[in-house]
Amino acid sequence: MKIERKQRVVLVPYPFQGHLTPMLQLGSILHSQGFSVIVIHTEYNTPNYSNHPQFVFHSMDDGLQGIDLSFPSLENMYDLNENCKAPLRNYLVSMMEEEGDQLACIVYDNVMFFVDDVATQLKLPSIVLRTFSAAYLHSMITIFQQPEKYLPFEDSQLLDPLPELHPLRFKDVPFPTIKNTVSEPILDFCRAMSDIGSSVATIWNTMQDLESSMLLRLQEHYKVPFFPIGPLHKMAPLASSTSILEEDNSCIEWLDRQAPNSVLYVSLGSLVRIDDKELIETAWGLANSDQPFLWVIRPGSVSGFQCAEALPDGFEKMVGERGRIVKWAPQKQVLAHPAIAGFFTHCGWNSTVESICEQVPMICRPFLGDQPVNARYLSQIYKVGFELEAIERTVIEKTIRKLMLSEEGKDVKKRVVDMKQNIVAAMQIDGTSHKNLKDLVDFISALPSRLPPATPVVGAIMSSNHTPSKCIIESRS
Ligand code: UDX
Repeated sequence: MKIERKQRVVLVPYPFQGHLTPMLQLGSILHSQGFSVIVIHTEYNTPNYSNHPQFVFHSMDDGLQGIDLSFPSLENMYDLNENCKAPLRNYLVSMMEEEGDQLACIVYDNVMFFVDDVATQLKLPSIVLRTFSAAYLHSMITIFQQPEKYLPFEDSQLLDPLPELHPLRFKDVPFPTIKNTVSEPILDFCRAMSDIGSSVATIWNTMQDLESSMLLRLQEHYKVPFFPIGPLHKMAPLASSTSILEEDNSCIEWLDRQAPNSVLYVSLGSLVRIDDKELIETAWGLANSDQPFLWVIRPGSVSGFQCAEALPDGFEKMVGERGRIVKWAPQKQVLAHPAIAGFFTHCGWNSTVESICEQVPMICRPFLGDQPVNARYLSQIYKVGFELEAIERTVIEKTIRKLMLSEEGKDVKKRVVDMKQNIVAAMQIDGTSHKNLKDLVDFISALPSRLPPATPVVGAIMSSNHTPSKCIIESRS
């Protein structure tokens, strides 16, 4: 049956795996709700169009050709925000000239904050997509409000609690640090990323039941409707791949040959880089734990090496059939496999949510940004993972055994099973994510196609027929 499409929604993703994925999943959700979806993307990391035949794609000249963006610098991120302004503006102007007022709104990743400037100039409504947890944003904002209270800190304070940010410690500050402080340019960038400008709402890849108190506090700060509709990968109707790298599906056949609940999956996401010392310690920790493992060693993820050549000589032969190393895995399928018993993770938000959704307990080895925050919540609040206390082979071996073989490991597994049940409930017809999605669809459908000049955006939305999302959250938590 042909669906009569409602208005168009333009999506502007940030072109890195951990951000592109949730935006494309949001696109699938909005498409299933009757919107036409246009994805305006950078040339860098162009999504695979054939995986999403339902979307219209348009490429913007990002001006970053020939630059190594495998680990983007602050300068690269600012350049991206500057260079894409004119291409986005030109595209939107010609689209509006040709097709009139069909455009309902622009949804952009919070790192692509230039979109708000363009939307404001054209008087188009824009909505921010937060691809990480509410706890992370809350910790950033708390520190922005009084940076001198937190920065710089002493080495002796690393394990001390961060004031007002339980369970975080100074070593978990949610910014990259140099010599126990955060540079002004980094703070400025993070402020720009947290600011919503004149955007009219925020969509979250999180669950209201999981983060209700953080979401409420943030809503007091932002004063626009919030729509926590996660987990996006489960709410999306189509399971089409959003992978930038080629997935090695042979690891699923290897998993099929393993005993149920026996394998540790090891992956540090799409951006993290480790040194060869850490690779070697991890290799020995895995080997000595005697547990089967599936290990993703992404090309370029070991500084100074192409791929896995930094592994100890004869490592793969020594572990034999007990271990499998791939360059990139179909992670969601791996986590859902009955052979998987645990996940050794950097605690990127997507990996965190994907793991909880498949009731897989974690070993947390965070690096920077939101990862230390996620790791602390996983290990101290939700208690569904163990933090890795040192990057040493004996500690790694012991932590793996604790997760996979001990009574404590069984408790962690029980809690992650409960967490998964709560997420399943949130996605049911009367669940919070399901209801918030319905509210989001109504909200977007009722947006004025052009925002009136000089009208405060928040006021415009609150005076419409829509329930302000503060009420949405309070009434359901
Ligand atoms: C980055 C930051 O590191 C993270 O902290 C932030 O929350 C989002 O941006 P990334 O390193 O990519 O994310 O981690 P994560 O958020 O976990 O996303 C990685 C994605 O790649 C996941 O969706 C995962 O399923 C996928 N993946 C990873 C694969 O498909 N195959 C792999 O082998 C590894």
